[in-house]
Amino acid sequence: MAAVTALPVSLSARFKGSFAYFTVKDRLPQILTKAIDTLHRHKNEFFEEHGEKGVEAEKRAISFLSKLRNELQTDKPVTPLEDDLPDAALWNQYLDYQRNLLNGNGEPSWFQSPWLFVECYMYRRIHAALAQNPPIGSFDVFKEGKAQNFFESQEAIIALCTYFQELLKNIKDLDEKQLQGELFKLLQVSLWGNKCDLSFSAGEKSSQKSSPLQCLEDMVPYVIVNDMEKLWSLLINAKKRNTDKCTVRVDIILDNAGFELVSDLVLTDFLLSSKLADEVHFHGKSIPWYVSDTTKNDFNWTIKQLQSANHMWMSRCGINWEGNLKKGVWVYQDHMFWTLPHIYSSMAEVAPDLYADLQKSNLLLFKGDLNYRKLTGDRKWEYTVPFHQALNKFHPAPLCSLRTLKSDTQVGLKPGQGEQIQASEPEWMISGKYGVVQFDATP
Ligand code: F6P
Ligand code: MG
Repeated sequence: MAAVTALPVSLSARFKGSFAYFTVKDRLPQILTKAIDTLHRHKNEFFEEHGEKGVEAEKRAISFLSKLRNELQTDKPVTPLEDDLPDAALWNQYLDYQRNLLNGNGEPSWFQSPWLFVECYMYRRIHAALAQNPPIGSFDVFKEGKAQNFFESQEAIIALCTYFQELLKNIKDLDEKQLQGELFKLLQVSLWGNKCDLSFSAGEKSSQKSSPLQCLEDMVPYVIVNDMEKLWSLLINAKKRNTDKCTVRVDIILDNAGFELVSDLVLTDFLLSSKLADEVHFHGKSIPWYVSDTTKNDFNWTIKQLQSANHMWMSRCGINWEGNLKKGVWVYQDHMFWTLPHIYSSMAEVAPDLYADLQKSNLLLFKGDLNYRKLTGDRKWEYTVPFHQALNKFHPAPLCSLRTLKSDTQVGLKPGQGEQIQASEPEWMISGKYGVVQFDATP
């Protein structure tokens, strides 16, 4: 029988001084405080829209969030969800699972449990604070920040849309080498777009100010795993094989709204316009998540903003993208699994319908840091452990992670590579300065 190697421990705030510890101690309470402030600031609006009922709902939501912050800061046990939202039972089963792991030695608490679990749980409770309090149930406390990121990235968005519309003019005349060059550029823009998330900056401003295309060359050394050639081979071979007119489907598991989302949409448009793909499925979040993650509202809002922008190429992009959605070559979907605490190796069991759907894809692109943590299980891996091994049997289709490093877990490096970067830059795993385009094709 093959030896079963034990998995490394989960990242957790119980490791004092770790990034998880710092996050649970400081960053998560800051995010809760900001959410409370946001509700306060909208009090008049709630009153105007819903009268006294709106103000009462706001007060209840605030007290729910203050209680949550107190539970977190005093390391209380994580309590079962008491709402009747559709995913509550799955959450509570997961809490039982965490409790069973402790073998009767206490209750899972905020600082002692796996970081991924408690962090996801906090966002789920923020959702409950609103969802349980009609008439303000659908208010997204993170919406303003996401919109602000979009507006502050205006210059960068214009630069990207303009570049892309120019590219479209002669895309049919590009030879393979040129097509590959353009794909690599847009992949990198989408990769570095992942720097702009708001959970990382605890809700502080984090927009793309400069032209996203200008400094790509200088950033190449910071792509510490670079599998773009493998991605290219997969896509070009699928295109060549595609003489029988089967559809080549790419799925993008989205991360942040704002500039990152626009960079993902440009990449997607390129895949279709170059005929490297025929159909793209986007996977967003069904509830507000990790401050800046894309929900259906954010997705539609972004396309509308582009459409109505006072800039020819921005609005051209918006109009084309709306058209792609109407034609059905772009498909937006969400699934509750993406906002559960489970890592992706348990998707086949927990969400078999989603797993089966992803199996229909030719390529899955996972954007961002949280997706990387869930792909690799959020563990203290040795840097040299192969990506495939860390995926731990999660393999619905060939997949690739485009992620800037904002949490201290990383696999698939060459021997000595991690140690070498560490020696000169101790913060390399959490600064967002380094990135990976990490691919796995093996079933
Ligand atoms: O709280 C921190 C965190 O989970 C980080 O790991 C990561 O920086 C961020 O939230 C989410 O990042 P992303 O938007 O890239 O998934
Ligand atoms: Mg995010």
